[in-house]
Amino acid sequence: MMSLMSASAIASPNIAFIKYWGNRDDQLRLPSNGSISMNLDGLFTQTTVTFNPDLEKDTLILNDQVADQQATSRVSHFLDLVRKLADVNLKAHVYSKNNFPIGAGIASSASAFAALSLAATAALGLELSEAELSRLARRGSGSACRSVPGGYVEWLAGQSDADSYAVSIASPDHWALVDCIAIVQVEHKPIGSSQGHLLANTSPLQHARVEDSPRRIRLCREAILRRDFEAFANITELDSTLMHAVMMTSDPPLFYWSPVTLEIMTTVTRWRREKALPVCYTVDAGPNVHVICEESSSEIIREKLLQIPGVLHVLSAKPAGPARLCQT
Ligand code: DP6
Repeated sequence: MMSLMSASAIASPNIAFIKYWGNRDDQLRLPSNGSISMNLDGLFTQTTVTFNPDLEKDTLILNDQVADQQATSRVSHFLDLVRKLADVNLKAHVYSKNNFPIGAGIASSASAFAALSLAATAALGLELSEAELSRLARRGSGSACRSVPGGYVEWLAGQSDADSYAVSIASPDHWALVDCIAIVQVEHKPIGSSQGHLLANTSPLQHARVEDSPRRIRLCREAILRRDFEAFANITELDSTLMHAVMMTSDPPLFYWSPVTLEIMTTVTRWRREKALPVCYTVDAGPNVHVICEESSSEIIREKLLQIPGVLHVLSAKPAGPARLCQT
């Protein structure tokens, strides 16, 4: 029995091309709109969960340090869902490690809750389907549901808890895109996504953004399936800017861009328009810019990005596979 009570899993973060911003149900994390993303290879969270009858409370070690109260209770509430599924009342020790900086515009909560979902359910001997695992991960962090399946992924907004989960729309080797993440700042962001989602509906622009989202989802999905970079670039940049327009017009407003963010955005679009380079940008809830390009141009793009004043370094990631169990 003891060997069944511990398991380890690994999951990659993902970058959304069509963004998740705002919920219809904050408690269940039912999103206001569907979204599309790509898992990021080489970046990962590895998590080991051990349920132990001797523990009186859940404990969380994050990147080799005892996690703060807020992070521990988010994980503990999530584990309550897993305990309910398995009908057990055991507390757990969670040991989790990222190989990329937290709060740097790379959603660590996505890989964290995808890995936690898989490790915790496996530790208790639950065998969930990919869709069930994705639904569960969604409850920890919305974007985590997209880190469960592999490659290019669509989160089907759904109508309820039962049908809101992510599916793979293309395998990692379908299209050799690279996310060159231009890091302009490594500090923790002031307002995290969870708080941001709560503000989305205070923007008069959110309704229009959500209403038009099925069209953007379709255009993005079709562009990925056809490997049509120009169509992909146009819809990805539009969707990113629409989300930021909502953020900037929320009450209170959220401004995630720094002057360097805007400089990179405009420069990247110019490279595509004037130099015909297959490159575009998307920005999450932070100032770093995800510069998406075809692999054949990724070295040139990387070098060009490093020449822009204010770019500290560039992390590159190809499409990654699904969340998976691993050795401790
Ligand atoms: C801007 O999934 O991090 O990265 O569910 O509260 O954990 P929580 O939010 P989260 O939100 C992601 C927001 C985004 C866009 C995206 O990844 O779709």
